[in-house]
Amino acid sequence: MRYNKSKYYIENIDTLKIAKKYGTPIYCYSKNKIISNIFNFKNNFKSIKPLICFSVKSNNNLQILKLVKQYQLGADVVSKGELILALKAGISPKKIVFSGVGKTAEEIKHAIDKKILLINAESENEIVNISSIAKDKRRAVNVGLRLNPNVDALTNSKISTGRNIDKFGLDEKVISKLIKKYKNSNYIKIKCLSVHIGSQITELKPYAEMIKSVSKFIEKIKYNFEYIDFGGGMGIQYKNNEKKLNYKKYLYLVKKFVNKYRVKIIFEPGRSIIGDTAVLLSKIIYIKKTNRRNFVIIDAAMNDLIRPALYGSYHKIVPLRKKQQIINKLHNFVGPICETTDQFSVLKRYFKLNDKDFLAICDVGAYGMVLSSNYNLRPRPSELMIDKSKVKLISKRETLKDII
Ligand code: LLP
Repeated sequence: MRYNKSKYYIENIDTLKIAKKYGTPIYCYSKNKIISNIFNFKNNFKSIKPLICFSVKSNNNLQILKLVKQYQLGADVVSKGELILALKAGISPKKIVFSGVGKTAEEIKHAIDKKILLINAESENEIVNISSIAKDKRRAVNVGLRLNPNVDALTNSKISTGRNIDKFGLDEKVISKLIKKYKNSNYIKIKCLSVHIGSQITELKPYAEMIKSVSKFIEKIKYNFEYIDFGGGMGIQYKNNEKKLNYKKYLYLVKKFVNKYRVKIIFEPGRSIIGDTAVLLSKIIYIKKTNRRNFVIIDAAMNDLIRPALYGSYHKIVPLRKKQQIINKLHNFVGPICETTDQFSVLKRYFKLNDKDFLAICDVGAYGMVLSSNYNLRPRPSELMIDKSKVKLISKRETLKDII
């Protein structure tokens, strides 16, 4: 995504043209950016050959999952729906892990029937449930146990998952107990220790603490796990000057770990694969000028992209035609929804805009479309995939007829 002279392009496509042709709001992905992110992720960890399971919760468009599959990634799923979709995309069950604190019996049965690689369990009762279903089916099931390492991911508190106040994972004592109990079980095969401490992590420190905590635990319990699943969480740069995760240093720590414990590593990246590959195009409906600020009212809203409203997240906003003149006044970029929190950004100054101008909200590939809703009875937007000069509609805009 870049300006070519004054026009905002995705690959070889002028975004204004597609905004006008396909209507707004609309999610537009760059296929080649997705591919290059996959290559980068693989390259970063090449020397340890991890199994990379794309976190389907971050983006579940079928065409995107097919692309992920084409480049040999597996999938991290958290519901029966995601599991069905990952399989539909052609992802091998041997590359699928199932995470989540509340898997129902129906979901567990489905996962067992599909012979996926691992069910990563997060409570004692879940293991009891898996065990009894496995017994009924006379099947041995490979499971992982998710450790809660009590590590602060140093990210937004709302997307932190590895502290002992968070609902995720099990503490060491419970895992030790479960290992003792199921070590010789015919139905529960404990193959993996999993951990995921949060999302949008840009500091090395939390990962270092996570690895230290996992190492200590392995030493203590003396159990040979075949896999260690370090989860995802690798952050991206939403702001130009935002800190970047140092993959080299992260690799160094993981490599040391692998050399010592001789385990296979699983990663579950979502955002780092798909986050910066899409923009949400939107058209200005009105600009409401008050003494103190300009409210730029656009046709995208919190139902299309909820991250700013839900987590206070920042997304860069750029005009599809570069502007020269700057207005030194507060600009609130807001949607039409009847909630004060339906606001994408408040900026101290911005380019001079006019009604009917078009904008792009950037870096919306992860947790964008998947979190969209019909709030205020608004149809959900469409999605486009851009591949050099080709444009493909990869999900259709809902119509009022669909939802009424
Ligand atoms: N594995 C597990 C077990 C997870 O819970 C998650 C994300 C991931 C992997 C992928 O994490 P990633 O690499 O994408 O950071 N909706 C929030 C983010 C929620 C993350 C939930 N879990 C947001 O928009 O920031």
